[in-house]
Amino acid sequence: MSQIHRAVAIDGPAASGKSTVARRLAASLGLIMVNSGAMYRAVTWQILQDGVDPSDADAVIRALEGMEIGCGIEDGLSTIAIKGRHLTTEVREPQVNDAVSKVASIPEVRERLVEMQREYLTDNDVVMEGRDIGSVVFPDSPFKLYIDASEEVRAARRSKDGEADAVAKRDAQDRQRKASPLKISEGAIVIDSSHLTIDEVVGEAREALIKLGWDD
Ligand code: DC
Repeated sequence: MSQIHRAVAIDGPAASGKSTVARRLAASLGLIMVNSGAMYRAVTWQILQDGVDPSDADAVIRALEGMEIGCGIEDGLSTIAIKGRHLTTEVREPQVNDAVSKVASIPEVRERLVEMQREYLTDNDVVMEGRDIGSVVFPDSPFKLYIDASEEVRAARRSKDGEADAVAKRDAQDRQRKASPLKISEGAIVIDSSHLTIDEVVGEAREALIKLGWDD
């Protein structure tokens, strides 16, 4: 991959705080922030809308073939539209939480979305957060962070956000799947956000990037 633009890869489990950190880091460095989880969520939302069983990989792949997926940027943040409809809060509905790990475990889904994720780098420097950004999407990037937090802290954060989400179950599925499982990429700096404020995590992330060779 020949890259002129730089990618900061941020991976970690659900509710580890990585989205907030990615957004803040991107704003402070003047980069765009791409939320790759929103892409898996959007495909899952559409599949449920279409009445497709998320456990039926063949049916999901067939539904994906004709699906028009539009990735954009607005105010420095990634956006996602399916069949021309911009999806925002819909993708955080409980039925999406329950089904997204199944859909994300299908290699054909990942292939299509990874290609779109890499396209962001053609014209932009990006902070991208997800599960496989350092391991699969941008393996050549030296700027890899892994944001973690204890299971208790993550579950508490989700319920505080009013989201009923069995994060432990979703993480287990995301870690155990064959295709691009959640893991700490080689060379990634791990930050445990369990007992840190957002400002502290962002501060540690900036220091980590400098250690990894970030120079501005
Ligand atoms: O970051 P999130 O919780 O919104 O992600 C939703 C789901 O999408 C997550 O359970 C696993 C999947 N995902 C993935 O497999 N790979 C990514 N790069 C991002 C998310």
